[in-house]
Amino acid sequence: MVGAGQLARMTYQAGISLGISLKLLAERPDDGAALVASDVELGSPDSYDALSSFASSCDVTTFDHELVNAEHLRSLERDGHCIRPSADVVALVQNKRSMRERLDRLGFPVPPYRAVSGLAELLAFAERHGWPTVGKSIRGGYDGRGVWVLEGPDAAESLVQTASGAGIDLLVEAFVPIERELAIVVARRPGGQAVAYPLVETVQRNGICHELLVPARVSPVLAEQARDLGLAIAEAIGVVGILAVELFVAKGRLLVNELAARPHNSGHFSIEGCQTSQFENHLRAVLDWPLGSTDLLAQAVATVNVLGGTESVEPLDQLPEVLSDPGVRIHLYGKQARPGRKLGHVTVLAADLESALSRARRTAAGLVRSSAVEVAS
Ligand SMILES: Nc1ncnc2c1ncn2[C@@H]1O[C@H](COP(=O)(O)OP(=O)(O)OP(=O)(O)O)[C@@H](O)[C@H]1O
Ligand SMILES: [Mg+2]
Repeated sequence: MVGAGQLARMTYQAGISLGISLKLLAERPDDGAALVASDVELGSPDSYDALSSFASSCDVTTFDHELVNAEHLRSLERDGHCIRPSADVVALVQNKRSMRERLDRLGFPVPPYRAVSGLAELLAFAERHGWPTVGKSIRGGYDGRGVWVLEGPDAAESLVQTASGAGIDLLVEAFVPIERELAIVVARRPGGQAVAYPLVETVQRNGICHELLVPARVSPVLAEQARDLGLAIAEAIGVVGILAVELFVAKGRLLVNELAARPHNSGHFSIEGCQTSQFENHLRAVLDWPLGSTDLLAQAVATVNVLGGTESVEPLDQLPEVLSDPGVRIHLYGKQARPGRKLGHVTVLAADLESALSRARRTAAGLVRSSAVEVAS
């Protein structure tokens, strides 16, 4: 696996029980997964030589992030290396413009968008679709970095200026009046066998995923549409491994926000919440092995991310305290605490969402000694 963050760390953990030795290409020795894995190579995912020597030592190469040079992956494929998901899929999911264009062309519902090369184009788009409008960095954004809600022409002008100074290509899209955010996580094998996880409701604040609620609080009809959409997109782009499809619900309809072709934050609930976790199914899929059941193991599952607070509290030190709730399942990623950084997550299985969520929130807040957010219905 190229990349050694928390996704690789949890994939590694899933590999242990299957007896798979997952080798990692880590940028730094203190990356979350590099701290726990036995077979770690240090190297940059940008370097062709590093990727090539790494791929040569693996049967299958997969990823914990998409910040890899897709041209390098194409030449590795030409040299006969097994890259899953493929270089084409990685190229697609690392570029918000390509994603929008491809999904649009395939007939999947996406918000109105336009790639813009200057202020005039951005303003013309906003005039047509109204303010606020949303500017996005075409590449490299995550956790809301690279997403800007623009209230008017002044904000647009300063974004265009900053972006051109920093060499950032911009996309603009209509501001969607989001009723809920959802994610459908799918695992797909090379031959096409695919399974979908139960639909997840994601709670985002400031562009960062904070909470997962399963099952999502939507009608069965919408849930089925989301599932069909996820499976259809996985098939259409030919992904191998996990595909997470982030969705908006607006005016009762689904819109595709973005795709991630790797294990994803919105699938973390599956570790305890489902028969087979997204991490295990990612491994099975990229190895072309039969996929495991995605059946839910409780009526309700809530996952709350542990985000670094303003005070430097070390979550590990809080464990003895928060473990007093015997039903909470805690995952810490071995990362150094910094404000807003994802340091871990907490999952609770319960008979109803409200109690699962309030216990997961209390524990997640206790780990960084902040006060828990109240549960709203
Ligand atoms: N067109 C839009 N209208 C309204 N809100 C939006 C729009 N696009 C994005 N958002 C909000 O910003 C969040 C982050 O957007 P997006 O997923 O595109 O960015 P990202 O930083 O790449 O996220 P990730 O960390 O999932 O990769 C969304 O979850 C949503 O809450
Ligand atoms: Mg997103």
